Amino acid sequence: MSATAPVRPVLPPDITARKGGVPLVVLTAYTTPMARLVDAHCDIALVGDSLGMVLHGMPSTIGVTLEMMILHGRAVTRGLSRAMAVIDMPFGSYEEGPAQAYRNAARLMAETGAPAVKLEGGQHMAETIAFLTARGVPVMAHVGLTPQAVNTLGGYKVVGREAEADKVMQDALACEAAGAFSIVLEKVPVGLAARVTAALKIPTIGIGAGVECDGQVLVIDDMLGMFTEFRPKFVKRYADLGHAADEAIAAYAAEVRARAFPGPEHGFADQVKA
Ligand code: KIV
Repeated sequence: MSATAPVRPVLPPDITARKGGVPLVVLTAYTTPMARLVDAHCDIALVGDSLGMVLHGMPSTIGVTLEMMILHGRAVTRGLSRAMAVIDMPFGSYEEGPAQAYRNAARLMAETGAPAVKLEGGQHMAETIAFLTARGVPVMAHVGLTPQAVNTLGGYKVVGREAEADKVMQDALACEAAGAFSIVLEKVPVGLAARVTAALKIPTIGIGAGVECDGQVLVIDDMLGMFTEFRPKFVKRYADLGHAADEAIAAYAAEVRARAFPGPEHGFADQVKA
């Protein structure tokens, strides 16, 4: 018999119960190896539709499909034993109404094993959030900057300064009232994010929204410094893997061209030793 207790995976009610406690730690993950790394340290692995830009070189998240989310969602859940997977509903998969949202959320959950979905939008999505949560689909909401609305917002701007502040507050309250188990606040001014956090009973998870949120999320490739050129103000780089990879690839290319790689130790003898 094993002496160690089995690891119980985190579920949405565990996240809601963390309101006001030790901050929730969330990173995006899109592949099995990254999910394994995230699993060791984080509460949630978010299969964000940012994967369209980060992994597939798309100009925005608009072109991400349900099939892409299912493929990457499956890869991520294979790498998790404790952290909870939350999977983004991509643009066009939920906005028509509750029935479309339910059909596609059910596919995401059934085909990936993720126990929760995330969708963008506030008051105008409340009916859909209520429909989903009443039918066994835990929803993480997402307000403030909602990247799928980049074309109506006119860019990836801060959302919630001055006259916009009340709308962000009302959006967050509407998502909570509709049954969301937590909510992402993206690129919301720090004072407003603190007021929203104080007003809600569900945890807020900030990205570019200050330290008063109940948790933080970053795109993993951003915080690992995988990109050499792109650096949003709200990202802290904890590593410089982009430069390390560049140096490693340059060294490999030089060694191949100089016939320094492969060395004798990387090859196989013609005869098996007796
Ligand atoms: O798609 C994503 O990665 C996200 C986070 C930035 C919150 O929605």
